[in-house]
Amino acid sequence: MKRMKRRDFLKKAIKVFFSIIAAAVLSVFIYIYPSKIKERRLQFVYIMDEDDLPRKGIRKVEFQYKADDKEVANRVFLAAAGGDLTAFSSVCTHLGCLVNWDNNKKEFICPCHAGKYDMNGNVIAGPPPKPLTRLPLKIEDGKVYVGIKI
Ligand code: FES
Repeated sequence: MKRMKRRDFLKKAIKVFFSIIAAAVLSVFIYIYPSKIKERRLQFVYIMDEDDLPRKGIRKVEFQYKADDKEVANRVFLAAAGGDLTAFSSVCTHLGCLVNWDNNKKEFICPCHAGKYDMNGNVIAGPPPKPLTRLPLKIEDGKVYVGIKI
């Protein structure tokens, strides 16, 4: 019979120990935040009437919706240029702070770590690892809806 070396035994014991700790932490997280684990689905939320859409430039749109019986506030930016309309999430792709639009500099600016994006949502400065997220838009019966994961 082959004997297990002391070093191999310690490695296995450490792996088992950390697996048990990870399972315990995950169980506590699921118990405390069950809604965070729930799979979020794309849903379209009304944001404005079609007549109010911007024709040029960037407009911040604030809106509310219900999720898990709670009223949730959100905001997106609509960018209109050359007849095209794009919706950007206001959530910075670095650590999730909400960006603002600086109309003088024509940049989205994140107040947390000075991340900057151009009007197409591309990163131009700071730590954000990727562009602002583009959100789907749909217009039905004169009403504008943005697609967000709820
Ligand atoms: S959270 Fe926006 S730059 Fe860090």
